[in-house]
Amino acid sequence: MKKILVIHGPNLNLLGKREPAIYGRVTLAQINRMLTKAAKKRGASLVIKQSNLEGRIVDFIQQAKKNKFQGLLINPAAYTHTSVALRDAIAACGLITVEVHLSNIYSREEFRHKSLVSPVAKGTILGFGPRSYTLGLEALLDLIEAR
Ligand code: DQA
Repeated sequence: MKKILVIHGPNLNLLGKREPAIYGRVTLAQINRMLTKAAKKRGASLVIKQSNLEGRIVDFIQQAKKNKFQGLLINPAAYTHTSVALRDAIAACGLITVEVHLSNIYSREEFRHKSLVSPVAKGTILGFGPRSYTLGLEALLDLIEAR
């Protein structure tokens, strides 16, 4: 059984209500259901976490290696652009990591154009709304299966 850790970063708990013109009306619970369904089809199991706290997300990533997860699907949200700690945790854990974003961060404010996470991710999928997550999960499972 492939075990994947899914992490949603800060403010993603507000999806559905938060800036719907940018992030849409789909809630985090709906995204999680889509992911769980897609994972099941591919014989994978997911553990899904959300936190608004940087250190807590670092802890999730550190524990993922110990708990024998094979891959990490992460939307680091605002920490994408600021967190050296998150970047270092991903580099240290050695898990295949796919970064996802709902919005196209390169078509938005300049401060969103830099991702500290992208250099330590295998790849990044962005701009497709909730579909970024399912595309990211499929890509991650393909990578794990190809190993
Ligand atoms: C986001 C993009 C980030 O810039 C922002 O801070 C978010 C969400 C996205 O999914 O589009 O919180 O990661």
